[in-house]
Amino acid sequence: MAIYYNEPCHTFSEYLLIPGYSSAECVPANVSLRTPLVKFKKGEEPAISLNIPLVSAIMQSVSGDRLALALAREGGISFIYGSQSIEDESAMVERVKSYKAGFVVSDSNLSPENTLADVIELTARTGHNTIAITHNGTANGKLCGIVTSRDYRVSRMEPDLKVKEFMTPFENLIYGKEGITLKEANNVIWDHKLNSLPILDEEGNLLYMVFRKDYDTHKSNPLEALDSHKRYLVGAGINTRDYEKRVPALLEAGADVLCIDSSEGFSEWQKRTLAWIRREYGDSVKVGAGNVVDREGFRFLAECGADFIKVGIGGGSICITREQKGIGRGQATALIEVCAARDEYFNETGVYIPICSDGGIVQDYHMTLALAMGADFLMLGRYFARFDESPTAKIHVNGIYYKEYWGEGSNRARNWQRYDLGGAAKLSFEEGVDSYVPYAGPLHDNVAASLAKVCSTMCNCGALTIPELQEKAKITLVSSTSIVEGGAHDVIRKEQSGFHS
Ligand code: IMP
Repeated sequence: MAIYYNEPCHTFSEYLLIPGYSSAECVPANVSLRTPLVKFKKGEEPAISLNIPLVSAIMQSVSGDRLALALAREGGISFIYGSQSIEDESAMVERVKSYKAGFVVSDSNLSPENTLADVIELTARTGHNTIAITHNGTANGKLCGIVTSRDYRVSRMEPDLKVKEFMTPFENLIYGKEGITLKEANNVIWDHKLNSLPILDEEGNLLYMVFRKDYDTHKSNPLEALDSHKRYLVGAGINTRDYEKRVPALLEAGADVLCIDSSEGFSEWQKRTLAWIRREYGDSVKVGAGNVVDREGFRFLAECGADFIKVGIGGGSICITREQKGIGRGQATALIEVCAARDEYFNETGVYIPICSDGGIVQDYHMTLALAMGADFLMLGRYFARFDESPTAKIHVNGIYYKEYWGEGSNRARNWQRYDLGGAAKLSFEEGVDSYVPYAGPLHDNVAASLAKVCSTMCNCGALTIPELQEKAKITLVSSTSIVEGGAHDVIRKEQSGFHS
């Protein structure tokens, strides 16, 4: 006979935190959001920790190298999507690891033969106004000139005008030579009142751009997630099919941590993948696994050797797994049960395995709830897809900007490996949708605003650290009528914005 769960499963929106005593020290400025990323033994330090408990989803529409850099700058980590060729994924990882703070590989490049229309299209797509003009239109071609918004006037110029007709040509450019330090580059920028400085090798090929605004950013990010060589941390997704080739390539590219990306992780495929990694690399390679939604799934992956375990099936904003297949569990219930299993495992073995709550975070307070319920960090897709740094197009519809966001199980992503149960190598039916999300601006501003709320709530609960929150939190289920009471009610709102963060 089937096993029946007598209680329904719940989502984050069905819970609230009840404040505890806050002492005078309990102010947001004193809160630390530092959290372990990988397992560690009692009394020891984890090999990798994050300074904020946020990681970005292993998705084409979320975690490219640009978002990875922006998030690492804030103290979190991205997992570069694995649903691309091994070469392309490794190249993204390498771009993050080779990034020298302040020295940026130009992401907006055209050739002198391109047109004004190409410039406009590229600026709209990347949101960047400085375009490097190289002989072959690549990031490392011979520099021929620069185009910024000061070089053209859309209303006065024909769209098919060639870039070479209006770019600032190489002869008029000030540039730095390979080997210049960031300090020297910034001095040149200041002395000549520039917005950017191209850095060239001996042959005149473009290596990097140094931007005036990045200097300020670097100075204002004390929580950056860095490795021992002061390079940004980056993770990468792997699958249970081509790991024998993908894992070595990603490690070679410099990935700090890997994660098996699968919609359902309680499987022999994950066991085989973890066993292969342990056989080849021992414990030196850090790898997360998942997703699971109950104690049994957790125990299985813990015993297979996972460094962290991801929780969540069917709760993602673009996810239709529950509708398509009828599997899943309310995210809060799943998380509560898995975190209890993690604590039980810790008491038994002295090994603490961090739990990642993956998917379904809609309101900022859901972050605090997930942490209070025992998550060590949170994986978010929709949240990050809305920002400038996500890899997707920014689209203007009826006066409002949107970004595209699609599921890995959608026909668009065609990431059949994520849904692989060992059958034919293809996606047989969709488990995700293709969608728009409201554009929300730069990652930095949004993360700061969300985490300000998390810190403030933690103070209401009398907690200055995540473990303290987990120990002290008082959490209550709410009735459907108290959910109504929780929003603005019985008043006529003067303005109603359609979207919440
Ligand atoms: P979100 O933060 O609610 O948007 O959820 C993101 C999470 O949804 C990801 O980290 C994945 O675990 C999951 N996910 C990504 N693509 C799909 C899909 O196509 N179907 C189901 N779940 C997905």
